[in-house]
Amino acid sequence: MTHMHITAWALGFILFALAYMMLKQGKEKPAKITQMILRLDYLFILYTGGDLIAYYFNGSPLLPEAIIKGLAGVWIIAVMEMMLVKLRKQKSLKGLWIQFVIAVIIVLVLGFFRLPMSV
Ligand code: HEM
Repeated sequence: MTHMHITAWALGFILFALAYMMLKQGKEKPAKITQMILRLDYLFILYTGGDLIAYYFNGSPLLPEAIIKGLAGVWIIAVMEMMLVKLRKQKSLKGLWIQFVIAVIIVLVLGFFRLPMSV
């Protein structure tokens, strides 16, 4: 499941970057299609992440960190979605980029250095 989770979020970052660049170049239609595939991938991320969290509900002392990891993951998804919306409206993305960086740091630190990646 860990590998599926990595596949899911790595694909998410790639699709997000593609949609972002397409919108920047004014390619509205391909960006829309890419964003639709990205939304399907969100489900894949949530499913694999949800499955990983389930393993911590057996009295594991790492449960709080796994929950924070999951919330930060959901936060990244929300920020990516809002960025694409704001980009279309040509509004400033500064606040969202700051949130993105903070959430990614939390996710990477907890995901790679704190949680065991055993399953
Ligand atoms: C774009 C969003 C996300 C990113 C970038 C992300 C990234 C990561 C990374 C780097 C790891 C450590 C390596 C791995 O096991 O894959 C990880 C593990 C984990 N993720 Fe996510 N994740 C995201 C979304 C989620 C969501 C939405 C949830 C929960 C609903 C979640 C729950 C978990 C859990 C519980 C682990 C710990 C697995 C373990 O080591 O035992 N993640 N994630």
